[in-house]
Amino acid sequence: MGDVILTMKGIDKSFPGVHALDHVDLEVRRGEVHALMGENGAGKSTLMKVLTGIYSKDEGTITFEGKEVEFTNPREAQDAGIVIVHQELNMLGHLTVAQNIFIGREFMKGKFIDDRKMNEEARKLFDQLGIDIDPTETMSRLTVGKQQMCEIAKAISHDAKVIIFDEPSAALTEAEIEELFKIIRDLRERQLGIVYISHRMDEIKVITDRVTVMRDGGYVGTLITKDCTKEDIINMMVGRVIYEDPKTESQVAKDAPVVLKVEHLNAGRMVQDVSFELHKGEILGFSGLMGAGRTETMRALFGADPKQSGDIYINGEKVDIKTPKDAVSHGIGYLSEDRKRFGIIVDKTVAENSTMASLDEYMKGLFIDKKKEKEVAQKYVDILKTKTPGVDQLVVNLSGGNQQKVVIAKWLVRNCDILIFDEPTRGIDVGAKSEIYHLMNELVAEGKSIIMVSSEMTEILRMSDRIVIMCEGRKTGELGIEEATQERIMHAATLRN
Ligand SMILES: Nc1ncnc2c1ncn2[C@@H]1O[C@H](COP(=O)(O)OP(=O)(O)OP(=O)(O)O)[C@@H](O)[C@H]1O
Ligand SMILES: [Mg+2]
Repeated sequence: MGDVILTMKGIDKSFPGVHALDHVDLEVRRGEVHALMGENGAGKSTLMKVLTGIYSKDEGTITFEGKEVEFTNPREAQDAGIVIVHQELNMLGHLTVAQNIFIGREFMKGKFIDDRKMNEEARKLFDQLGIDIDPTETMSRLTVGKQQMCEIAKAISHDAKVIIFDEPSAALTEAEIEELFKIIRDLRERQLGIVYISHRMDEIKVITDRVTVMRDGGYVGTLITKDCTKEDIINMMVGRVIYEDPKTESQVAKDAPVVLKVEHLNAGRMVQDVSFELHKGEILGFSGLMGAGRTETMRALFGADPKQSGDIYINGEKVDIKTPKDAVSHGIGYLSEDRKRFGIIVDKTVAENSTMASLDEYMKGLFIDKKKEKEVAQKYVDILKTKTPGVDQLVVNLSGGNQQKVVIAKWLVRNCDILIFDEPTRGIDVGAKSEIYHLMNELVAEGKSIIMVSSEMTEILRMSDRIVIMCEGRKTGELGIEEATQERIMHAATLRN
């Protein structure tokens, strides 16, 4: 670690009804990776938005390379050498990868944008970072993980001195995270100051040098990573100890009926001849690397994407699911991995989003029964401990993890018998995570059945009764929880044809 490059002191910031930052301090040195940790809504993203000029601060000082600074927009921060990789994806779907990376600073040839040059430069950048993405591809066609890698490449392509990663790994698989860590170690070597925000405790120990913890908008303290344990950090974050033991045996009754049977499902290249069964009261984990076809399988099953062939049975009866509406009418709920694209409407309120999948139940004549809507929304705000000043708050104003809780609420309100949870705890803090796990266990105890797609190995081993593993669009393994180990899952996840 070198000398101090950035100091934030006594930063204070309020939004209507929310004291988001209460005199927070942060110090970043050259050549260090500094973790910023705290529960959902603790104020991490807000602090970084104040730093990069997205929000103005109410109080406090920011010193960068020895001089007091105040940026009024992210462009100014960027020009000074501070860039941020945001928690939410900010790419423009209709543009190409290269056009997104060089947006606002396009290469020109006379009056025209020089796409060839931009593609060339983007390719160089990817080569240098060891990322395999085609710069001419349309952004919306990439997976969430790949889009995230583009965000990271874009940030690095600016000549930055401080880079902030706001939950970069939430959308990445283990292999992609390894890539990211290589990139970060290289940046550290080059004496950049790096701020790293993540809810994954294991990562913090691996990649960071120091940890600053925030709670409820306040500064709790700063620790040297190698001198503290995971439990120390969690304790500072939530003020209690949380245990995360793996499941050792299936909780499903031996004779539990099959509620969902999928036979020889085919849907494009990413879903090839996939068959599996889901039992009543079961949590069936779907594991695999990014691009294994798990989300594609769920989308085809749910009717969100067309399928070429295959049969679906619910409680032994063959059903025809062509659209998500069909799926919902058969009692299937799908909590999507990409909340911004499919899960929520950000400029609607928490209450409106909560009842979005079950509107018929909340109608009074031609109108929505607002009182009833608010009541049920409040109920799930309480159960999930969603941090919001009220159910009338617009979802766009919630922190990332709290937005995810609203998506979960939406499907709980719908009261489906079969729930597909695709990366349910992405971006959710350790405390809230264990609450969601608890809730999933309650749901199956009530007789509901859950498919859980997860890229987090610890989550798969902790929650699943049985595990299906996919690789390159095929099912390559199935393990009961009693026989499942990380090694066996990884083995099946890399079984190529
Ligand atoms: N533009 C806004 N308007 C109103 N409230 C806001 C706004 N932005 C953030 N907040 C509130 O400020 C608090 C801190 O939010 P912030 O996004 O910084 O949390 P976070 O620590 O990044 O959480 P997460 O881990 O869930 O991403 C939250 O209560 C949030 O709802
Ligand atoms: Mg955040």
